[in-house]
Amino acid sequence: MSYELKKSLDTVLDFIPDEKQTLLFVDDEENNLQLLKRTFRGKYNILTAHNGLEALDVVKEYADVISLIVSDQKMPVMEGTEFLQHVKEYNPQIIKILLTGHVGTDILVSAINDCDLFQYILKPFELEELKIAVENGIVKHSMANNNKLYYKELRALFYKTIKAMSNTLDTKDAYTNGHSLRVTLYSMILAKELHLDNQYMEDIEIAGLLHDIGKIAMPKNILCKNGKLTDDEFKVMKSHPVKGGRIVFNIKKLQLISSWVKTHHEKWDGRGYPEGLKGEEIPLPGRIIALADTYDAMTSTRSYRKALSHETAIEEIKRCSGTQFDPKLAELFISVAEEINFARQHPVEMYEKYSFLGKNIDFKISSEAAANARVIEETQAVQ
Ligand SMILES: [Fe+2]
Repeated sequence: MSYELKKSLDTVLDFIPDEKQTLLFVDDEENNLQLLKRTFRGKYNILTAHNGLEALDVVKEYADVISLIVSDQKMPVMEGTEFLQHVKEYNPQIIKILLTGHVGTDILVSAINDCDLFQYILKPFELEELKIAVENGIVKHSMANNNKLYYKELRALFYKTIKAMSNTLDTKDAYTNGHSLRVTLYSMILAKELHLDNQYMEDIEIAGLLHDIGKIAMPKNILCKNGKLTDDEFKVMKSHPVKGGRIVFNIKKLQLISSWVKTHHEKWDGRGYPEGLKGEEIPLPGRIIALADTYDAMTSTRSYRKALSHETAIEEIKRCSGTQFDPKLAELFISVAEEINFARQHPVEMYEKYSFLGKNIDFKISSEAAANARVIEETQAVQ
């Protein structure tokens, strides 16, 4: 066997899963069904039906397991093309082969398009011809599924990378442990209250995890300083949103959220940084993360002061509503204060509940680390 042939054969074989795949044969003639059953049962699981309507019931029940359907065209109750048109409503990935007598080209073309046919086979046919069509169809089905699997794996890898970046930052210093996670969690609680759609929620989750990623570029003696920063040091630290925005912008899929990362230290009244944006000039996720970030900074122990209580932090948020914070968001935050407080005390469990990314990755953070999480934040928490 030539190398090229072996390579292409290996490729095809790679796409054929070990487990038996399931075929559905639809024909009103019992003899034909029996013949098809005998021919294919060694290699595949077989389902059968005697007309389109009956077959549709089978599809409804087994949509997720059927890989390929071979349907006769001429059947009582419901014809093959009508039945096959409905199949995509239950699972568009099922491969469809139609067995038909001689019909006009127009009818055939519209059948191919309307039913998304993989192949039609003119009757009478050789069994060998059908075997080849089924094998090819199964390869196509397996390839599509492998692509889906590959995409899923890529997605999981992407989120693992996000988590790894966030964890790296959170563990860079004992005081920052758990900060990004909690900020993300509080942001997601707010986002959920705003009824943002799933994609928006997912993007906010990523932005929350990466909001302080620019700190990776901060000198360690400033980032981990045991005490309050000098004016010069604070000036350096204030560059982290811009640096973070740049880092995130370089990741193609994350360009949308780079402006959210960049604006998480802006203030509603325009006194924030880096650009002094005001009100709704600040993107909504930037405002959400800013609020979550400040709450976490206030309720976490710093190297130079103890954590404020939840109640005191809420009072501060009330006081700074309309100046530091978006007043509507501050009001919303206060309305879910109890849930936020619970999340603060049980960040791991609550994050698992809220996370969209967590459903794609094996997310683990030690409870102890989370419980002991403390923050060193440059944010001048509401004073
Ligand atoms: Fe920050």
